[in-house]
Order: sequence, then structure tokens, then C-alpha cells
Amino acid sequence: MKQDLETARPTMILGDLSHRFASPDGRMMDVLTDVNLTIREKEFFTVVGPSGCGKSTLLNIVTGMIKPTAGEVRLLSGDRELDRLEVGYITQDSNLFPWFTVLENVMMPLEIRRVPKRERQERAREWIKIVGLDGFENHYPRQLSGGMQKRCSIARTMVYEPEVLLMDEPFGALDAITKTTMQKTVLDLWQRRQTSVVFITHDLTEAIALSDRVAVMTGRPGRIRRTVDIPLDRPRDVYNITDSTNFQELRRELWGLLENDLDS
Ligand SMILES: Nc1ncnc2c1ncn2[C@@H]1O[C@H](COP(=O)(O)OP(=O)(O)OP(=O)(O)O)[C@@H](O)[C@H]1O
Ligand SMILES: [Mg+2]
Repeated sequence: MKQDLETARPTMILGDLSHRFASPDGRMMDVLTDVNLTIREKEFFTVVGPSGCGKSTLLNIVTGMIKPTAGEVRLLSGDRELDRLEVGYITQDSNLFPWFTVLENVMMPLEIRRVPKRERQERAREWIKIVGLDGFENHYPRQLSGGMQKRCSIARTMVYEPEVLLMDEPFGALDAITKTTMQKTVLDLWQRRQTSVVFITHDLTEAIALSDRVAVMTGRPGRIRRTVDIPLDRPRDVYNITDSTNFQELRRELWGLLENDLDS
């Protein structure tokens, strides 16, 4: 696996990205500074960093929702540039359409991609089942718990099988059992579909359990402090990941890099 990754082609290149936002008082605030990252094809790449360091902003830049103050983003699939419609983005908020049911929400991206109605229904129902929402197809988002809304938004993105998947703390709001089950679902899917994933989390155990590499960001303005390889064998047992050889060592290393920032 590691060998494959070392020779894998890049799928996302972030070059010298910097971003400043205007604060409400009109002053400019540096949020990201000189972010350089290359994510490889089929890689599971995670970003951790203190709250407010610019992680969500980084993903918003990748999807084109925010134009960076400086630098560039390239998305590639082999030799071609990737279309934004091929990038899946599970945002930090669930962002479901409140006037659509669970089934309608999950079918929506397929409608945009002009998938025939029958296939839309089949694929949506399959994903609703995978995330454990069968029986709730006709519920509206307000009739779901927070964790169920999150699972619905995961199904809505997974259903169109994006080439690149961006996930912004997708499991943060879930209870421990659902969280671990969803981690396993995402890992199984990633293994089967071989998509590239950029994943954001505050949870170092989750970062180690899922990733090939973990980038640790500094506090705002966010820079990449270091990128750490996670050389654990695959497939991984997410339920017992803390028992893996090297787990504690990796956790200490990542925590040390984060703490470094808290001290400064
Ligand atoms: N649209 C905006 N206008 C002005 N400032 C913004 C905007 N969006 C984000 N910010 C600021 O940019 C900084 C980074 O925000 P961002 O949401 O990227 O952080 P984050 O690393 O994702 O934090 P968290 O871990 O809490 O989700 C924050 O200080 C925030 O106030
Ligand atoms: Mg965020």
C-alpha cells in the first residue's frame, strides 16, 4: 500500500495557498498562509489543527466556493483536469434541503447528473440503507436527530461516487457507536472505490485509524506544520485500532505537534 502511494500520481495540488478574510470591523485577517500540499490518487489524507485555523476554509477553497487570496488549486484524474461535479463535499453542517424528504435529498445529486429516475431511486435507497436510515425515507430533516441528519448528508454525497471526497468533521456530532460504524463504512467504501479522500477531524484516534498521512496545521493563520505517515497495515480494524503496534507512538507524535502550537 505504502509503496503504491509513493509512486501514485497526484490528484490534488495546493500551491502556495494563502487567504485573508475581512473581519466585521473591516480589518483584514490572515487565515491561511503558504499552504502547499499534494494529495495522491487513492490516498486517505487527513488534516488536523486547532479550531479556527482555517481547515474548513481550505476545503471551501478546494471546491471553488472561495477564491483564495493567493495560490492555486489543481484537481486531476490521470491526465485530465477534474470537473468540480466530480468532487464530493460533506460539509461541517449537514446542509440538507429542509423541504425535501430523506429520499429526495439523497436522490438530488443524481437528478443534477441526469441519472434516470429508476436508477436514482435504487441508488438512493441503497445508500440510505448503508447509513442506517431505512424506514426514514419519507421523513423531513427536521424530523431527524442531529446524527441522522449527518448520516443523510453522507449518503447524499456518497450516492454519486465522487472521484475525490472532501469530508469536514463528518462524524463529530455522532455518538461513539455510530461514529465507529460510519468510520468502518467509509473505509470499506474507500477501499472498494479507491477514491482520494481529504478528511478533517479533531480526533487523533480517528485520524490514525483512517489515514495514510496526517497533516498537522498550526493555529491561525494556518500553515502545515508537518505531515506524518501512518504506516499501519490495511485493512484496519477501526474497533480495535488503539491496540495496533505503533498506535500510541503515532498519537504522541501528532499530539506533540499540536501541543507545540498551544505553547507558542
Ligand atoms: N466568510 C467568512 N468571513 C470572515 N471570516 C471568516 C469567514 N469564514 C471563516 N472566517 C474566519 O476564518 C477563520 C477560520 O475559519 P474556519 O472555519 O476555516 O476554521 P476551522 O479550522 O474549520 O475551525 P473549526 O475546527 O472550529 O471548524 C476563523 O477565524 C473564522 O472566523
Ligand atoms: Mg471547520
